[in-house]
Amino acid sequence: MIEHASEPVLAEEAQLGRLKESSIRLILRLQDASGAYPASPTFSAYKGYSWFRDGAFIADAVSAAGEIDSATRFFDWCGRILDSRSSTIAAMIERFDAGQPVADTEMLPARFTFDGVEGDDDWWDFQLDGYGTWLWAVAEHARRHGLSLDRWQDAIVLTVDYLERFWDRPCYDWWEEHPEKRHVSTLGCISAGLSAVLDVLDEPRRALAKSAVERIRDLVVAEGVTAGHLAKWLGSTEVDASLAAVVYPLNVFPASEDIGMNTVRAVDDQLSEVGGVHRYLADTFYGGGQWPLLSCMLGLAWNASGDRTRALDLLRSAAATATHDGYLPEQVGTHLLAPASEQEWIDRWGTVATPLLWSHAMFIRLAVELGLEGGERE
Ligand code: BGC
Repeated sequence: MIEHASEPVLAEEAQLGRLKESSIRLILRLQDASGAYPASPTFSAYKGYSWFRDGAFIADAVSAAGEIDSATRFFDWCGRILDSRSSTIAAMIERFDAGQPVADTEMLPARFTFDGVEGDDDWWDFQLDGYGTWLWAVAEHARRHGLSLDRWQDAIVLTVDYLERFWDRPCYDWWEEHPEKRHVSTLGCISAGLSAVLDVLDEPRRALAKSAVERIRDLVVAEGVTAGHLAKWLGSTEVDASLAAVVYPLNVFPASEDIGMNTVRAVDDQLSEVGGVHRYLADTFYGGGQWPLLSCMLGLAWNASGDRTRALDLLRSAAATATHDGYLPEQVGTHLLAPASEQEWIDRWGTVATPLLWSHAMFIRLAVELGLEGGERE
């Protein structure tokens, strides 16, 4: 007897694999000549800017998919931005070491124009996570493809010196909110970044970075855990879907540890609905919809815990948000937490950012991890 039972499954996996491939092509096509990845090519509030956070995750995804040159060019862009600010960073550090204040407005911004300047548009700029995430992503890229980190060494050292001094300052989170808090995802990104580059640092810098990693862990365990899982910020009893990334791929509290596994469960229990994953329960941005990139982050964390079935489910829900043109949006509004707040954002910035390259990146990253193939890449 011929077995047909698995054919629909195979066909569906091939379809998901094709969305992975078209996502890679989209990112490569939209990457700027400078190496910067635009957050979203057309969306009014993001146009012309590249974020360290989005970009690092995008580079990590294309690196995992074998697009070595694209990722290298993004990391070169990060490196140039840091190298060109070496005296500003050194001056901030000197003042910090002398016990003098350094204002939030002087800190490195979250995003830059493609040619590496800060741009004229106001933004909620002081965010530390992207600087940790770029360190983590560049080190992963080098490890994955057997590359040397030498070409980024100066920028790595500058970033380590900056984070080692300023890691415990409150700053805006991944969602450009709550600058008065210390966010556990931000601390996770910093910790992952500092840990990832320890091997290429000289003493005493290495010991200082290692001690920062240990202090971050102790602080998070003492103040950033609620009901056994990671909390949105130190002292919070809420959860935020960005915490799934701290479990995996950042591996700071891996799924093999209770805190990591409890975090995966808490994010899934509290923030996922049919159709995808919300950022956090009080979200009102565009009415507080579901973010395909977070479905994929959560899928990555579940897969790391050994649950491929749940991971594939989450990948599927991300794929279902694609437009007819195969574009993944920043969020979808099929299940809104705060429907009354949707219109004010549409009036302010237009319809939801589509395509959002970070959404495509997380889709790629999870599809690669699940081993989904999508035919020939052009
Ligand atoms: C999100 C950020 C993201 C940016 C660009 C913002 O709306 O809050 O996390 O970095 O969009 O994608």
